[in-house]
Amino acid sequence: MSTPAGDTAVEPSGSDRQRVVLGVSGGIAAYKSCELLRRLTESGRSVTVVPTEAALEFVGRVTWAALSGNPVRTRVWDDAHQVPHVRLGQEADLVVVAPATADLLAKAAHGLADDLLTSTLLTARCPVVLAPAMHTEMWEHPATVANVATLRARGIVVLDPASGRLTGADTGPGRLPEPDAIAAVCERLLAGLSAYPTADLAGLNVVVSAGGTREPIDPVRFIGNRSSGLQGYALATTAAARGAHVVVVSANVALPEPAGVTLVRVSTAADMKDAVLKHSTTADVVVMAAAVADFRPVQVARDKIKKDDTSPLPEPIVLERTDDVLALVVEARGAAPSGQVIVGFAAETGDATGTVLEHASAKLARKGCDLLVVNDVSGGRVFEQSHNAVTILSRDGSALPVVESTKETVADAIWDRVVAAREATNSG
Ligand code: CTP
Repeated sequence: MSTPAGDTAVEPSGSDRQRVVLGVSGGIAAYKSCELLRRLTESGRSVTVVPTEAALEFVGRVTWAALSGNPVRTRVWDDAHQVPHVRLGQEADLVVVAPATADLLAKAAHGLADDLLTSTLLTARCPVVLAPAMHTEMWEHPATVANVATLRARGIVVLDPASGRLTGADTGPGRLPEPDAIAAVCERLLAGLSAYPTADLAGLNVVVSAGGTREPIDPVRFIGNRSSGLQGYALATTAAARGAHVVVVSANVALPEPAGVTLVRVSTAADMKDAVLKHSTTADVVVMAAAVADFRPVQVARDKIKKDDTSPLPEPIVLERTDDVLALVVEARGAAPSGQVIVGFAAETGDATGTVLEHASAKLARKGCDLLVVNDVSGGRVFEQSHNAVTILSRDGSALPVVESTKETVADAIWDRVVAAREATNSG
């Protein structure tokens, strides 16, 4: 449920949308938070912007109200009947302040509460992210250093400012981190992950399949599917960031090559099978994120099937089954490094015989993998989207829902489960 600007000040409780408070304090970098706000409102989150009075000198109230679709207040006295200085903080799933000036950091560290933003920081019990922006001298001043240490010791995420050109002629640490970098930390926290990825996959060999296979009918036509490869590539880049050696077996993906990984391009289900089986013999983790064709034409026409040669219609295309690559990886795990974790994906729709999760649990048991990442694809959701919501089923019967997040955040949630599965195997 959205609250149009100027309407009731605080969204009624009971809505299942995630609520974010975006605090903005008085620095020139406030304009960059317009982009951060846009990123935070993706996935249907409700974002309430709480600027300080000084922040409104840089970006006006109307801009924040129009971009957020929510009313904008700076003082505890506005709409006092709704007690916003308590409610906003209490009900938020995340509070992020960008830019956080030296003054805001000092107030937060000392528990001052002289406006709506600082009051909200005192009442918030959710994760809090502060993205500082100030001149280098202010950032390096012992007072700010002590305030940042105090805040971090309380579990508040204070991002390191970026280095570079500051307002005026000076350069150095003090620039607001890029909105994408701030949003990525927020996304992780909203998905229940730690703020930063760790190198917990260091030294592991990981194989990720991505994209969708194509089964040729003739030299120009094929049977394919709508998989874009976004989720597979996000798995590859996040695994590499966490220290893994990554091989991506990529089927017909039209995305920029992910950095820091070995890319093996394939096209058909048969090519996919050969490449995945070859690399999985030495892999500690295999993730089958690709959409592999279940059937292929028995005959592939050597020449393009012409309209005029096929009167009145071409012969029906006779199909045969392809191999189930995931099942073959499971079968071959005896020859793989011990403790190999195998992850499957399941694109499911509910029907008269069961819910999405019932079908997925049956598939997990049938396929014999350790984890199954379940996408509800009713109505064509998921494909070609930057965001995804999944449930991660484990062999031990647990089901972890991951709320609508970027595919990188979903990927990190999957790697967290992989790490947990390896720990369980090693300690068992
Ligand atoms: N998969 C595979 N080889 C195939 C088909 C699927 O390795 N020939 C893998 C996919 O990469 C995915 C998992 O199996 O990780 C589940 O794919 P899905 O299409 O949901 O399941 P199917 O076994 O094909 O069953 P169905 O289509 O009947 O639901």
